[in-house]
Amino acid sequence: MDVFYEIHSDLPREGPGRDEDTARALRLALPHLPEAPRILDIGCGPGMQTAVLAQQTRGSIVALDRHPPFLEQLTVRATQAGIQDRIQTVEGTMTDMPFEPATFDLIWAEGAIYVMGYEAGLHAWRPLLKPGGCMAVTELTWLVDDPRPEPRTFWREAYPNMRGLKDNQRMIAEAGYRELGHFQLPPEAWWTHYYEPIEARIAQLEGRYADDPVALQTLAEERAEIDLFREHSDQYSYVFYVMQRIEP
Ligand SMILES: C[S@@+](CC[C@H](N)C(=O)[O-])C[C@H]1O[C@@H](n2cnc3c(N)ncnc32)[C@H](O)[C@@H]1O
Repeated sequence: MDVFYEIHSDLPREGPGRDEDTARALRLALPHLPEAPRILDIGCGPGMQTAVLAQQTRGSIVALDRHPPFLEQLTVRATQAGIQDRIQTVEGTMTDMPFEPATFDLIWAEGAIYVMGYEAGLHAWRPLLKPGGCMAVTELTWLVDDPRPEPRTFWREAYPNMRGLKDNQRMIAEAGYRELGHFQLPPEAWWTHYYEPIEARIAQLEGRYADDPVALQTLAEERAEIDLFREHSDQYSYVFYVMQRIEP
């Protein structure tokens, strides 16, 4: 197995976030949703946030991801929590989803809209929402106007489309939504279920691959991203953006 997938298999999450952050974003949308909303969770990964959506609504959820092992992990999680009856997993790509227009009351995407690009995702997914439906996404966002050189250089390479809060808010309005609220994920949301388990995994794998320079290079790159956050978590974070589809 590619060492990258060894790092990223069987983690509790595949991106920053915690149950309380999911719940906080959901509370912004709930007043605008029906009693039992139809929900689409895009790029669901192993499904930690999917479980919160199921537990804190009476809705049914389609959880879509292109990586089958994550969907299997999600199914195990849902079965253990007794919520599997309301969750349907779909293996597929977010760029070409097999759903009719106006199918969903709520679209959710934690750490996933970047795959097709934040702005493109806002536009492409809007038709899948019923009029008045809601969307919640997390997006990597600059927290300062003039980032320090080190994070700026790193993210210019790793995610050149990263923008500041105001630009992301403007795109929400331009794509046909009104913002219901936003908040920044705190540093703990990066560490607890994501960077800490990854750091532990990297330490194990560095021993196993001590004689493999290619694998060690991959491990060093993952460490570099984590060390950057340790030093510069005041410069960037994921921001949760919650919005409602409005008609022109
Ligand atoms: C950063 S992870 C976030 C996973 C999960 N939402 C979480 O917060 O733990 C991004 C997810 O998007 C999925 N993904 C990547 N490209 C995709 C695509 N084209 N279509 C659907 N899912 C995709 C990955 O498999 C991964 O599960």
